[in-house]
Amino acid sequence: MAHDTTPNSLDKQWIPFTDNRGFKAEPRLVTEASGVYLTSHRDTKVIDGSSGLFCCPAGHCHPKIIEAVHEQMKINTYTSPFGMGHPKSFLLADKVAELTPKGMNHVFFVNSGSEAVDTALKIVMAYHSAKGENRNRFVSRERAYHGVNMGGVSLSGMVNNRRTFPVTMPNVVMMRHTWTGEELNIKGQPENGKELAEDLERFAQTYGGNTIAACFVEPVAGSTGTLVPPKGYLERLREICDAHGIILVFDEVITGFGRMGTNFASDKFGVKPDIMTMAKALTNGSMPMGGVCVRDEIYDTVVDSANPGAIEFFHGYTYSGHPAACAAGVASLEIYKEEDLFSRASEMSGYFSECIHSLSDHPLVKDIRSIGMMAGVEVHAQDAPGKRGTQLQKSMFWNGLHVKFTGDSGIVAPMFISERQHIDEIIEKFRDTLNQHSN
Ligand SMILES: Cc1ncc(COP(=O)(O)O)c(C=O)c1O
Repeated sequence: MAHDTTPNSLDKQWIPFTDNRGFKAEPRLVTEASGVYLTSHRDTKVIDGSSGLFCCPAGHCHPKIIEAVHEQMKINTYTSPFGMGHPKSFLLADKVAELTPKGMNHVFFVNSGSEAVDTALKIVMAYHSAKGENRNRFVSRERAYHGVNMGGVSLSGMVNNRRTFPVTMPNVVMMRHTWTGEELNIKGQPENGKELAEDLERFAQTYGGNTIAACFVEPVAGSTGTLVPPKGYLERLREICDAHGIILVFDEVITGFGRMGTNFASDKFGVKPDIMTMAKALTNGSMPMGGVCVRDEIYDTVVDSANPGAIEFFHGYTYSGHPAACAAGVASLEIYKEEDLFSRASEMSGYFSECIHSLSDHPLVKDIRSIGMMAGVEVHAQDAPGKRGTQLQKSMFWNGLHVKFTGDSGIVAPMFISERQHIDEIIEKFRDTLNQHSN
């Protein structure tokens, strides 16, 4: 199983979320990346149509981030985050708080989206415990993706992500997902389906609203192929949470930092959660980092419930607020501001939407859903679910396009620095590959 250009069998690494045998027989390696383009190990040029894994809106290898991390590494490569600190993490927290909704000014740093979700679960538990409330039930949603740690898997509504892991958190109930199949090829929010939020009210009636600790949702379900919430749906979830004292958590790991053309999806939909998770674009994908941002009252309740001098929240990671990640985070948020990238995303989203929906006439395409700078192009399944999607992703790469497929949905999420010509190139290569697979 020799790698086709360098003398490395590739055998030793166990690759995540990948068909290891297939990949090692036919690898797709990226040797360099710059702006919106990748270079493959065969020296071909590949346009990045998914911003990596929806992480890099400002483009690969941004010089300002490289410089910031390099400078940081010259002066401090590590500080324990427990009982100590370094200035960059506080600076980054200030910058994050400038972007988060009003009254959500406290952020807990972690190293990934999965850690953000598990941390959010623990914050919810700590909050209710501080208030003396016994709420032990969590609500999530079918087709949800909340990462791969045990808390996130427990909240996961994607069957393959939990099939082989039978022991997960108890007391999690799933609302229905929001793709009804009634409205196809919709730009933006579907008109119908608001009533799906009533699942949460039904759980409150069935189990008692005062037993439910939190409701976790991705404002737009990303990894399952861009399921956009119907009009009024998130608003209704907010009302039900308020009525029963349930914490509403928005998992903004994909939707945060401009993907919707606003700071967060919360701003796009005008619905404020109590807790928001974030990762990916926090550092423009350049360093592993995530965060959990909470409403001020949640922070105050947990912190004030402990005796003076006592640790208030028994949680944290060795690499929480790592200096290199913080330097990358600060630089990324400055770039977003200086280059006005969220407005740019908003302006480009109309063109992107027109272009991506032009694929809907293709016989292999079943549905296209889009919002902001993100779209799910779902193709008709062939033989087994996900088979065609996997084949398309491979072919696209060698046709010069990177698009991440989950199952049979290609998730297209261009970088915010993309010009119209880049969007055109993505669409053209997407169509060419579909054509190639139609014969
Ligand atoms: C909504 C959501 N939550 C959590 C995660 C997990 O993030 P990570 O892969 O950084 O652990 C993802 C990853 O795609 C995500 O989309």
